[in-house]
Amino acid sequence: MRHLLKLLDLSPEEIVEILDLADKLKYQKAHNIPHPRLAGKSLGLVFAKSSTRTRISFETGIFQLGGQALFLSANDLQINRGEPVEDTARVLSRYLDGIMIRTFAQEEVEALATHGDIPIINGLTDFCHPCQVLADLMTIREHKGLLSGLKMAYIGDGNNMANSLIVGGLKMGMTVAAACPKGYEPWQQVLDYAAENPAFSLTTEPLEAAVDADILVTDVWASMGQEHEKVQREQAFAGKYQINEALLRVAKSDAMVQHCLPAHKGEEIARDVFEAHAAEIFDEAENRLHAQKAVMVLLMEQ
Ligand code: CP
Ligand code: NVA
Repeated sequence: MRHLLKLLDLSPEEIVEILDLADKLKYQKAHNIPHPRLAGKSLGLVFAKSSTRTRISFETGIFQLGGQALFLSANDLQINRGEPVEDTARVLSRYLDGIMIRTFAQEEVEALATHGDIPIINGLTDFCHPCQVLADLMTIREHKGLLSGLKMAYIGDGNNMANSLIVGGLKMGMTVAAACPKGYEPWQQVLDYAAENPAFSLTTEPLEAAVDADILVTDVWASMGQEHEKVQREQAFAGKYQINEALLRVAKSDAMVQHCLPAHKGEEIARDVFEAHAAEIFDEAENRLHAQKAVMVLLMEQ
C-alpha cells in the first residue's frame, strides 16, 4: 500500500492489517506505552472543506507517533490561485513525508499521488471517505468481535459515506443493504463493483434494507458542497430515510448504530436513537484517531 486514495484500491488483507495495527496502537495509547514510530516525520493536512474530527485526529495522531502536522487551508495555498496540482505535489514532496487532503474532486487526490512521491491519504472527497470507514469497521469489529457474515444496512444519501461503506463492508465479507431515494443512489463505479457480489442489495425502502441488520448506518441528507440543494433534498428524504425505532424494530435485537458525524438529529437519525446508541457512535469518532495512526505508520514508517 503506497497511498490511501479509496478503499477500492485495498485488498481485504490490507484492510485487516490496518485494523489489527489500529487495535494495537489503541492498546498502547490506553496503557501509556510510547509508540514514536514516526519521529521526525511531517504530515501536511490540506483542507478545502470544514472538519472537526479529521483535522484533530490527524494532528493529535501524528503527534502521538512522534511526528508533526502542518494544517494547510486550501484557501491559503497557491493552489487556490491556480498553481497546478502537479506542481504542488512535486513541491510538497520535497518538504513533507506525507499529505492528507480533504477536497471535492477525487481526481485531485489521485493527481497528487500521481505527481508527488510521498504517500497521499484521502481525508474525504465527494466520492469517498476511506479513513472514516476504516474507523467504522474497527468499531464494528470491536463491538461484534468479527466482521464477516454481519449485515450492514445503510439508510440515506448515496454519497461518499455510502460509497466507502459498501466497498469496505463487501471487502470484509459483510452483507450490505443500501436504501437510498431514487436519484440519490451510490456512485456508478461503486454499483459496478458491488454488482459482482450477491451480498449487496439496493432498494428505495429503508424497512426492507434494515431487516435482520446487525448494524444500521446513516449520514446527512446534504453533504458539504451541497448546501444549495438542501430544500430539494429534504423533500426527497424527509419522513422516510431516517434511522428510528421503526427501523430498529425490524433489525436484530442487538443491532448497533453508526454515524460518521456531524449528525442532524431529527433528520437522518431520530434524536432518541442517537442518544441510545451514543456510546457506539462516539467510539466510532474516537477510532478515527487509532485507525488513522495505523494508516500513517503503514504508509510513512521507513
Ligand atoms: N466524520 C468526519 O469526517 O468529521 P469531520 O468532518 O469533522 O472531519
Ligand atoms: N457526507 C458528509 C460526511 C461528513 C463527514 C459530507 O461529505 O459532508
